[in-house]
Amino acid sequence: MKNTKQLLLIAIMACLLFPLKAQKYEGLALTPPMGWNSWNKFACNVSEELIRETADAMVSSGMKDAGYEYIVIDDCWQVSRDSLGFIVADPTRFPSGIKSLADYVHSKGLKFGIYSCAGNQTCGGRPAGRGHEYQDAISYAKWGVDYLKYDWCNTENLNAIGAYTTMCDALYSAGRPIVFSLCEWGDNKPWLWADKVGHMWRTTGDIYNCFDCIEDHGTWKSWGVMQILDKQDGLRKYAGPGHWNDPDMMQVGNGMPVNQERAHFSMWCMLAAPLISGNDLRSMSQQTLEVLANKEVIAIDQDSLGIQGFRHAVKDSVETWLKPLKNGDWAVFLLNRSKSIRNIELDWKTFSVTDTLSNRTLDTTGKEIYKVRDLWLKKNIGETRKPLKVTIPAQDVLCLKLLK
Ligand code: GLA
Repeated sequence: MKNTKQLLLIAIMACLLFPLKAQKYEGLALTPPMGWNSWNKFACNVSEELIRETADAMVSSGMKDAGYEYIVIDDCWQVSRDSLGFIVADPTRFPSGIKSLADYVHSKGLKFGIYSCAGNQTCGGRPAGRGHEYQDAISYAKWGVDYLKYDWCNTENLNAIGAYTTMCDALYSAGRPIVFSLCEWGDNKPWLWADKVGHMWRTTGDIYNCFDCIEDHGTWKSWGVMQILDKQDGLRKYAGPGHWNDPDMMQVGNGMPVNQERAHFSMWCMLAAPLISGNDLRSMSQQTLEVLANKEVIAIDQDSLGIQGFRHAVKDSVETWLKPLKNGDWAVFLLNRSKSIRNIELDWKTFSVTDTLSNRTLDTTGKEIYKVRDLWLKKNIGETRKPLKVTIPAQDVLCLKLLK
């Protein structure tokens, strides 16, 4: 009897000391996280001034009101480790230190994010997390970090599930709820395992600032918006509240014409993607702001059902995408991928689609009548008893919401 009790005690201790599965903070990303990240526009050219000014602009531009929350410094904020192995921020670029920067971001009612990498060095060649996971998690928690993007460069023979689980556990035991964003580019099919470890995972290599192109860097490639969109095929069943497919940060505001910006942004919302802007918020045009801060399109991304949309049909380079929403509403987006305009007639009377993933049916053949709202015009344009005739410009999108 005494032995049994001792064994039981040992078993309980073992479970406490060596939990079998990762412990992740739940409830941090019930809808896809929204924010800003420095990489796409500024690469290694980051500083506390940039982060402060970006936080200011996030508020003054109306982006915060539209739902953007996290200000994330990507690579190159770190330069070394001190004699005890703690990570050290670049004293020239961040003279006030990361804690004071996080405090500033928090004082604006925003949240603060940072970047590291599972390997020996980050992709930019800075000191990274391998072997320092628990130590770094303590630094992040002390500084007031709310979001960690964790990259996958210089990982040699590391096992991805193991490495990301270690960091997940480290964050958990440091005691501060931190959104954990995995960035291993889809190499190890994170959609199959990362929901237990993090809140979002990159599904592809890096986005390139173009609508429809592939940029070949020799040993690796980066991908245009359309190429990334196509790489999401088959992944929607893995996403949901608390765990999202991440098709990478947006390039909206980095030089594409407005039609492409609109299409890029809309499709990220259709994908229920994390909406991480990657442009200079301090100097963005009104046109870019109107894309990034369109609350009606954002609401499609942030819909609380958390079901990623899907490509339903393709005809003459026009793709019809559907996303079931709460209350029985639907998002219907028509993406014109071609370089010329398309005239479309949508006859709702022939439209009946069942989404087997969510077990929801959109049937406009007669039983149900929906109001039709154009989310870029921001007005109701009819209802499903009448066919819809529209023109969609080249590389642009028509975003409709069907309301019950
Ligand atoms: C990788 C990531 C990018 C960015 C850079 C930083 O390429 O995929 O998003 O974080 O590293 O070096």
